[in-house]
Amino acid sequence: MQAAKILVVDDDAVARELLAEALKKEGYDVEAFGSGEAAIARGREGRVDLVLTDIRMGAVDGLTVLREFKRMSQDTAIVVLTAFGSLEGAIEAIKQGAYDYLAKPFKKEEIKLVVQRSLDHCRLLRENTKFREELKSKDEWSPLVGSSPAMLEVYKLVARVSESKSTVLLQGESGTGKELIARAIHGNSPRRDKPFVPVNCGALPDTLLESEMFGYEKGAFTGAVGTKTGLFESASGGTLFLDEVGELGQALQVKLLRVMQDHEVRRVGGTHSIKVDVRIIAATNRDLEQFVKEGKFRDDLFYRLNVVRITLPSLTERQEDIPMLAHYFLQKCATGTTTPVRGFHPDTMELLNRYRWPGNVRELENAIERAVSLSHGPLLTPDDLPAAIRQAPIHAEAKPESPDVTEPVCLTLEEVEKRHLVRVLKETKGNKVKASKILGIDRRTLYRMAERFGLDLGDEGEGTEKETG
Ligand SMILES: Nc1ncnc2c1ncn2[C@@H]1O[C@H](COP(=O)(O)OP(=O)(O)OP(=O)(O)O)[C@@H](O)[C@H]1O
Ligand SMILES: [Mg+2]
Repeated sequence: MQAAKILVVDDDAVARELLAEALKKEGYDVEAFGSGEAAIARGREGRVDLVLTDIRMGAVDGLTVLREFKRMSQDTAIVVLTAFGSLEGAIEAIKQGAYDYLAKPFKKEEIKLVVQRSLDHCRLLRENTKFREELKSKDEWSPLVGSSPAMLEVYKLVARVSESKSTVLLQGESGTGKELIARAIHGNSPRRDKPFVPVNCGALPDTLLESEMFGYEKGAFTGAVGTKTGLFESASGGTLFLDEVGELGQALQVKLLRVMQDHEVRRVGGTHSIKVDVRIIAATNRDLEQFVKEGKFRDDLFYRLNVVRITLPSLTERQEDIPMLAHYFLQKCATGTTTPVRGFHPDTMELLNRYRWPGNVRELENAIERAVSLSHGPLLTPDDLPAAIRQAPIHAEAKPESPDVTEPVCLTLEEVEKRHLVRVLKETKGNKVKASKILGIDRRTLYRMAERFGLDLGDEGEGTEKETG
């Protein structure tokens, strides 16, 4: 992997070289600049992952560097360097979009931590941008998302069967995209300009379904006041999609078999047969072979339908597609609304990756639609997800991507203040007089701040944190 590109910008040569050297030792690709102008000029030349910039510099200060880099690319993370004790500049910078700050004098461990976290953040920004761009460049007529090996196998079969007229049997759990694939096959076939007619074989009692599928003649039964064309006739020249084909009753199984053999239908109560040219795609979430064994499904019909079989993977079998699908659904349901949601908090994505998805892609789509309607911020948080997903147990093989997944994506100003206070207290070994002087506040304010952050100032000594974390 290519080393991350980091710019260090500081007019103080000692601090600059110190920081640059420390980062080079960590294996980063570092360039150092003594002025804001030079750094901005370098930024125009090509990709930068992270900029560490001093705030107070000559003509072009750190905030200008920050604004310029943000303008050039949303994907570069900025960390500002502050003089020990002065926090106002850092707060202003974070308000304007800096990701974090580093206080002088630099501590090796702190440099490592802040830089690592900022680069993680930058990677996340870049991924979000990449997803959005990939989705933008997707063919509009093809709503199929996913590039896992399992889905590539499916696409290959779709391409292979689209040209022909062969009957296709789509097998897959509920919500895996069977109907979507059926439409894709039709849409890529020479029949694409003819109708695609879906029939849900499980939704109607057999007698009603029969007249739906084959039509009827006037007077065929009480209530048949006119003639009705069946769905087979309506689909003529096109594709008939027999959804939930496993639910067909025995009598209709026989009739369907006959139509498939003879390529003609007879309306209920009709006396003559009508030629139909229909391609059949059937789908089921049942184990049809088992149904055949149990005598629930005719074996001769099964063989007729099972000419080409495409088995759709469950969502957990193609877990690597979850982020892409999640971004796709986010974009789909955010389009045309005023929602501020633009992406996913890493914890949220972690939960989406971890959950078992019994309802597969449809369940994911619903979860994201719901989350977008609940969310107020730019990133979907775990709280926006349904409880079942939020409480998904960690399975053995799924481990967090980085140990930092519980870190907030951006520091809050509270957090900045707290970290700064802790640092100054440590630096002054808990001396409250010195600490309040460095912080530029009186001692009472210092006590109030400490209390707010749950820090124990002690009687006269150490300022240590009550809780760890
Ligand atoms: N690969 C995919 N890319 C994008 N959206 C998908 C994909 N697969 C499924 N979907 C979406 O998920 C939802 C469920 O898909 P579909 O209705 O095709 O599933 P199904 O297998 O027919 O489900 P059921 O068995 O419950 O009828 C739809 O909104 C569909 O658009
Ligand atoms: Mg379906």
